[in-house]
Amino acid sequence: MTIPERHFVNDLSALPDDFVWGAATAAYQIEGAVDEDGRAPSIWDTFSHTPGKVDNGDTGDVACDHYHRWPEDLGIAGQLGLDAYRFSIAWPRIVPQADGRVNQAGLDFYDRLTDSLLEKGITPFPTLYHWDLPQAQQDRGGWPVRETAERFGEYAEVVAGALGDRITNWATLNEPLCSAWIGHLDGNMAPGLKDLTAAVRASYHLHLGHGLAVQALRAAIPNASIGIVNNLSPVHPATDSEGDRLAAQRGDGHINRWWLDPILGRGYPQDMVELYGVELPVRDGDLELISAPLDWIGLNYYFRQIVTGDTTGPAPHFRQVPGPNVEHTAMDWEVHGPGLEQLLLRLTDDYGVQKIYVTENGSAYQDVVGADGSVHDPERTEYLEQHLAACARAVSKGAPLAGYFAWSLLDNFEWAYGYDKRFGLVHVDYKTQQRTVKTSGRRYAELAAAHRLRGRRAA
Ligand code: FCB
Repeated sequence: MTIPERHFVNDLSALPDDFVWGAATAAYQIEGAVDEDGRAPSIWDTFSHTPGKVDNGDTGDVACDHYHRWPEDLGIAGQLGLDAYRFSIAWPRIVPQADGRVNQAGLDFYDRLTDSLLEKGITPFPTLYHWDLPQAQQDRGGWPVRETAERFGEYAEVVAGALGDRITNWATLNEPLCSAWIGHLDGNMAPGLKDLTAAVRASYHLHLGHGLAVQALRAAIPNASIGIVNNLSPVHPATDSEGDRLAAQRGDGHINRWWLDPILGRGYPQDMVELYGVELPVRDGDLELISAPLDWIGLNYYFRQIVTGDTTGPAPHFRQVPGPNVEHTAMDWEVHGPGLEQLLLRLTDDYGVQKIYVTENGSAYQDVVGADGSVHDPERTEYLEQHLAACARAVSKGAPLAGYFAWSLLDNFEWAYGYDKRFGLVHVDYKTQQRTVKTSGRRYAELAAAHRLRGRRAA
């Protein structure tokens, strides 16, 4: 089916003049070079090499070979006119083992990357943890144990010491929901556990690790601008029955409130603490660390969730059901731009957040390389425009949205889905490692350039 090209964006003028136009990636999804320069395995190396865990048996061993091709990739980011680039730093390159020894060669890689970004006028936005826990740390208990949070704080201190003279914008964790719930409860991501107690404890130690990392970054970098990246979804009941309404409240607790409340000073939501029935290993001073003031909140948005009650598994007893007559991406995720507007306004109005970045938003489609070598992706272009329009609407209603990072700069290793699911603004041919900017990438560059020009004219 060909979807006609509709242009959703006729007015982005509500976005601030200094709006940051960015794109995002993550270390394990693009770098490859898993055993080079002192890197040790992460839980994702272990998981992807375990038969049956990742579609087609794909692994991140080579991925986009970005570890070697980064000059070309940053060149493309420059051509697209990106203001900022969100990437993640691989903990297993920096502190590969549990003994705390720092691997200078790992730091050197991000040092070169940082200098090159700055030379191009692209602001670096590193994330300290995008799911690649050193396997050595997993072997000592992983996120369900407190030691991992403490080691994360130490690793943050090392990175801040090495790059903090040039990098101002930092995110601690990417989507701790996925690390805790998908990694320890659903079992579909590394480390692949299905254990509610381990999952709740992991969520707590992820938060504690975040707090310790904030402390380390603040101590080392006086002008740091620090945030955390959460993936959130509006949660709607499938029907207006009492059962579905309660399921939606539990869903909202599990997906949104559990991840926002403690960070933003509200403590853990009591209804969810009771529902999980797992004691949180809180020590004196932890909750203050966890809720230390932040400069911004990162929002990753992909889809809303429509839910119904389901008591067949462990808490939180809800299940996602398909919405009526909705469009889907190749991930089977519903396309629903208004959900992004809603979440931006909830962060603004309910939580009083003062600065927000959309740190990820994007879509997978089955891209086809045309006979002329071009990649024409109207669905992705439309998705992008629809969601940017939602950002502009939220801003016009008061959301302090400072920037948008498209997921992703490049097609990459999409975790348990392997290489089949392509999210890039830039197509990657994994046989030849050839990069081709897709139509959506060009459109994104155009929108950014037009917006900047408008700002300059107004000034
Ligand atoms: C998010 C992840 C990111 C990518 C997108 C599609 O959950 O943060 O790494 O896989 O989904």
